[in-house]
Amino acid sequence: NYYVVIMAGGIGSRFWPYSRDKFPKQFLDVLGTGTSLLRMTYERFLQVCPSENIYVVTSKNYEELVSEQLPELSRDQILCEPYRRNTAPCVAYASYKIRKQNPDAITVVTPSDHAIFKEDVFIAAIKDALAEGARSDKLITLGIKPTRPETGYGYIQYLPGDEELKKVKTFTEKPAYELAVKFFESGEFLWNAGIFIWSVKSIIKSFETFLPDMAEVFEEGIENYSTDQERLFINQAYAQCKNISIDYGIMEKSQNVYVKLGEFAWSDLGSWGSLHEIREKDENQNVVDANALVYDSENCVVMGPKNKLIVVQGLKNCLVAQCDNVILICDKDNEKQFRTFVADAKDKK
Ligand code: GDD
Ligand code: MG
Repeated sequence: NYYVVIMAGGIGSRFWPYSRDKFPKQFLDVLGTGTSLLRMTYERFLQVCPSENIYVVTSKNYEELVSEQLPELSRDQILCEPYRRNTAPCVAYASYKIRKQNPDAITVVTPSDHAIFKEDVFIAAIKDALAEGARSDKLITLGIKPTRPETGYGYIQYLPGDEELKKVKTFTEKPAYELAVKFFESGEFLWNAGIFIWSVKSIIKSFETFLPDMAEVFEEGIENYSTDQERLFINQAYAQCKNISIDYGIMEKSQNVYVKLGEFAWSDLGSWGSLHEIREKDENQNVVDANALVYDSENCVVMGPKNKLIVVQGLKNCLVAQCDNVILICDKDNEKQFRTFVADAKDKK
């Protein structure tokens, strides 16, 4: 009864110029392993359920990319969204779809763009959570011990107790910086890893309670449709869905959320800085994934294609990235700038 839903419709703009509208982060080999993040996610979850039970939800623009990278999936397992409406509609679509196959399904909902190490620990945690999801109607999320007051994550405060699964007291999605500092310093909070486990029955009940308009839209369809009819239905359904994440839409509101501490090593690969943290470095702490000569430089990330030589000298904490027709040289930790780069570059062409 186990199913996996891989969310792969985001754009990953902080990884520009590698991550592009046409080719976002999840489809890239960001870790330099020869395999894209999406493919790594898929292969990881083959330890949890057979390939037939794995669904990918993505933008219709990425359908070809998904099917190229995951040729094992049938067309019916790639759920295509006509518009980007964030993760709540994405989870609703997949949940109603899977309920049609199996009303007793227990699902893992996972991002497609995270790095996970100590995979055996991760898989064991997922399996435990799935077993719990089969026994109860709990909404379960995996929590990670925070290492800094990051504002890009959800923060989970839980009730003390000896149980492995802790009842969540508060869930705060993407707090303002001052609040994130408080949460971090209190030591009482975990980061939400964005990996959820629940039965389709339970999550659909939560949609009915907290996002009833969305539930109503999906309730109407899918059940009796062929793949082609389903796509027509989804076009209309998405036009009526509001743009909201599952975190704001359900996790912050529900009193039925539980957290399991993840003891595996995790990075959401949110930025070049996070990539620098986890990738192998030379003796001067540089990450070099390019045909490059690097002199007198430290703490840099140098990325480029094999057919161009990049020569770098005298740089500290910089990103040097060449991809297609773009060369970006900037402070590698200045994440906030990326939105501006991407927006301004659109007008430049
Ligand atoms: N299909 C689809 N459609 N997928 C989407 C969409 C969409 O409209 N928007 C985002 N995704 C995918 C992304 O590709 C990613 O794999 C996943 O859903 C999560 O979306 P993000 O946009 O990366 O979310 P976030 O990082 O800001 O926040 C979430 O993850 C954090 C941990 O990385 C939240 O769950 C936070 O609470 C959490 O801390
Ligand atoms: Mg993310």
